[in-house]
Amino acid sequence: MTRLTLPYVFLFFSVSLFQLSSAALLAIDYGGDWIKASVMKPGVPFDVLLNRDSKRKIQSSVGWKKNDRLFASEAYNIATRFPTDSFNSLKFLLGRNFTDEQITSFYRQIAPAVELVETSRNTIGIRRGFNDNKKAAEWSVEELVAMKFAYIKELAESVGGPAEKVKDVVITVPPHFTQFERQAISDAVEIAGMKVLALVNDGTAVAVNYAMTRTFPKQEYHIIYDAGATGISATLVSFKTVDSETAKGKEATQIVVHGVGYDREASGTEMDRRLRDILGADFNSKHPWNDITRDQKGMAKLWKEAQRVKHVLSVNNEASVMVESIAYDIDYKSKVTKAKFEAACEDLHEKFVNPLYNALASAGLTWGEVESVILTGGASRTPMIQNVLKSVVGNKLATNVNADEAAVLGAAFYGASLSRVFKTKEIKVTDISPLPLQVSYVSESATKTRTIQTLVYPPGSKLGTRKTLTLRRKEDFNVTLEYGADAKGLPKGIVEIELTGVADAYNNLTERGAVDPVVKFNVSLSDSGFVSIQDAIMYGEIKDDTLTGKLKGLFGAGPTSQTEGTADAQPSDTESDSASSTESAQSSSTSETPAPEATAATEKVALNKKDQSTIHLEMDRYFKNIPPMNYVEKQRAKERLAAVDSMEASKRRKEDARNSLEAYLYRLRDLLGETDTPFVECSTEEERKTMSEKLDQVFEWMFESADSAGLLEFREKRNLLEDLEKKVQHRYKEREAFPQSLSDIQQAHWATRMFLQSAADNATADAEAGLPTKYTPEELKDVETKLKESEAWLNEGVEKQKAKAAHEDPVILTAEMKARGTTLQAHVMKLLKRKAPRPKKTTTSTSAESSTTPTATATSGTEESTTYITETSESTQTTEHSKDEL
Ligand SMILES: *[C@@H]1O[C@H](CO)[C@@H](O)[C@H](O)[C@H]1NC(C)=O
Ligand SMILES: *[C@@H]1O[C@H](CO)[C@@H](O)[C@H](O)[C@H]1NC(C)=O
Ligand SMILES: *[C@@H]1O[C@H](CO)[C@@H](O)[C@H](O)[C@H]1NC(C)=O
Ligand SMILES: *[C@@H]1O[C@H](CO)[C@@H](O)[C@H](O)[C@H]1NC(C)=O
Ligand SMILES: *[C@@H]1O[C@H](CO)[C@@H](O)[C@H](O)[C@H]1NC(C)=O
Repeated sequence: MTRLTLPYVFLFFSVSLFQLSSAALLAIDYGGDWIKASVMKPGVPFDVLLNRDSKRKIQSSVGWKKNDRLFASEAYNIATRFPTDSFNSLKFLLGRNFTDEQITSFYRQIAPAVELVETSRNTIGIRRGFNDNKKAAEWSVEELVAMKFAYIKELAESVGGPAEKVKDVVITVPPHFTQFERQAISDAVEIAGMKVLALVNDGTAVAVNYAMTRTFPKQEYHIIYDAGATGISATLVSFKTVDSETAKGKEATQIVVHGVGYDREASGTEMDRRLRDILGADFNSKHPWNDITRDQKGMAKLWKEAQRVKHVLSVNNEASVMVESIAYDIDYKSKVTKAKFEAACEDLHEKFVNPLYNALASAGLTWGEVESVILTGGASRTPMIQNVLKSVVGNKLATNVNADEAAVLGAAFYGASLSRVFKTKEIKVTDISPLPLQVSYVSESATKTRTIQTLVYPPGSKLGTRKTLTLRRKEDFNVTLEYGADAKGLPKGIVEIELTGVADAYNNLTERGAVDPVVKFNVSLSDSGFVSIQDAIMYGEIKDDTLTGKLKGLFGAGPTSQTEGTADAQPSDTESDSASSTESAQSSSTSETPAPEATAATEKVALNKKDQSTIHLEMDRYFKNIPPMNYVEKQRAKERLAAVDSMEASKRRKEDARNSLEAYLYRLRDLLGETDTPFVECSTEEERKTMSEKLDQVFEWMFESADSAGLLEFREKRNLLEDLEKKVQHRYKEREAFPQSLSDIQQAHWATRMFLQSAADNATADAEAGLPTKYTPEELKDVETKLKESEAWLNEGVEKQKAKAAHEDPVILTAEMKARGTTLQAHVMKLLKRKAPRPKKTTTSTSAESSTTPTATATSGTEESTTYITETSESTQTTEHSKDEL
């Protein structure tokens, strides 16, 4: 498996099509047990994000150890000590009602100590066990998931280069995730301070990654089989290499999802649960007086052990079980066989396989057409699943992708292809939704009232499409967008739309001569799998024969040529849609014949041109089941998270200050305790005594009141001692640096003298040759004065310094020596760099020759003192004969 080097990826920055909020793109494969993440940043090698402990996958957990919030494996591991405060498998709870028994009772089985509570939005929340403040201890699942995302965000921001904010996220979801679950993920991302660039279905992400390293001269069908902690899905995909439409001569890979099958009940977690229950029953049978299920910590330890044992059983036929002091002071020792575990999962076999058949059936393909079944997901390593699959697909079972990382890498490439900030191999993805979506509304006639349901998006409908529905209505009415009958056990209704102003609009249009105006609205299914109803209109043609004729043609029964919202050149699934429209047309009354034709997108030309024949209708949305979080709710959640963050940050700062003060105190105590050290030499006895006293005071304060002290106090105490110690430090440093500084400035003096000597020689030579001199006598006089001044200052200072003891403050500072030396040097350098004046009436070549030779020694003299020269700016430029200013 090649992982670290991905030579086929060409990441670079193209500013022209900048779409991201920042230059970084975060991809997250969010799982029930593990999170994998990857960040794309210009200049940072593309790879899976490493956790703090350098692991490539991050435990999908958040928890608290009393008041300290924990993440990843720390949060997971704390379950055995604080089972009420370690939150795992939260993915199950996203986008579900608190009253949803099916999910809450399952969750209570896998995490019996965790207290579920109902949020104000009727969704599921969790209450921490160890907290005095009951309300503050309650967190919605979205908030907890947001904390995990914020943790990942921080990891991503700390990778490579200058810290850059990460804003845009591509995140994987199971293909069968409902609107509510997708919304909950999306809300959590937003609470974490980021923005969802796209949700991508797990199998599709793996397919994208698969396509990155391969070409498909011929169309190939593969099934991506994803066995994860929270469910199983099978995605039937075709790959084909085609010519790029955007870049001439380049290739693109077309990825089309044809069918999806899934099962929510067969999951890695469910297998863990069954193994845990085998162990629990075994323990109880061995210790009949001690019921393990009554001990929260015991159950948490058993869960952890079951997960470990499951791994052992995937390579061995038997595993030994060993949990020290599991509960009731008992060390639990036992053995469990693979056979027993597999027998307990026998009823799941069907569930492992069904997604495959369903994917195949929904795609309308046969086994013969499928090239391979590609295994991904953590649970796909379980031999039980592999064996069951093998019995069905035989040697088509392929383990040629990295089961853990294919999805996150694919998500990153997918995001890159959307953002266009990063250039990767070109891909074109067409995905589908496996969930049936319908619109329902009440049809009233003189005789009866009935509810009409129109399947707008049957299972297998393409994402990123829009359909227009046309209804004949004269009064206000409601339409409900909901999942169809197949969405078993899950909330059905998504949103109810109330359309008002229908009567007025109808009358307005008819009064202006329109024939049979109709209500039209669009239902769209986004690329991320969100469904919505968009702006509704009343539409009627006013005296336009061709268009009326066209409109009439639409009401003729039978399938119409309908296309979908996007400009995709894909053939549309005409059949299923027209079937559904005919069906509802038949079931409706005559006077109000609903004509839910998904009309051609090309009709928009007519719609736009004939503005006067279109009246917009009011739409009010009433969310069903679980509404998306509104702005205020999200804001409040953000504030709660920010409060925890800032509390933790200030706690961390305080701890850092305390630790550093403590370390400082011990270091200072050591300094004061030693004899014959530079520290002692450079300090007076008086000073050491004062420091000792102050040190004792601060030590005492540390033991007595540091626990309740604030950050500033720690800093104050440190300053108190440091002020004294710094003086000694200063003396010591000055003494250390003195010899070098002295030698440096003396060298500068010497170099200056050499300069003056050479200038004088040149002047004499020039005068003899009748050439102009380079420097005026005043300039040279000035240099000499400066030199003498500096030498006098140095001599006097050095004399005085000689008389000083080590514990006395220095009279001549190395910093000043350096400054003077540098200044002098810079001045001379500036003069030296000046161009020699052009001689009058002589050829340049001879003058150049005559001036170089005699002063070769002087040049080498200046070069020797480069220590100073390098510290001055080299860019000084002087024009001929300009007066140098200093
Ligand atoms: C439409 O739905 C809203 C909210 O459920 C309800 O208040 C209203 O009465 C409904 N209107 C019609 C015309 O059914
Ligand atoms: C979910 O909760 C809402 C609000 O309490 C309720 O109206 C709805 O019927 C519930 N849905 C399900 C599927 O339980
Ligand atoms: C119809 O609506 C248009 C614009 O909305 C308005 O200008 C016009 O007066 C209306 N006509 C009638 C007959 O109500
Ligand atoms: C509906 O979809 C069509 C075609 O995709 C689009 O042109 C139109 O603007 C959308 N809105 C309405 C109100 O029809
Ligand atoms: C003296 O002349 C030589 C040769 O032209 C030159 O390299 C040197 O820099 C001159 N000395 C000074 C102090 O300008």
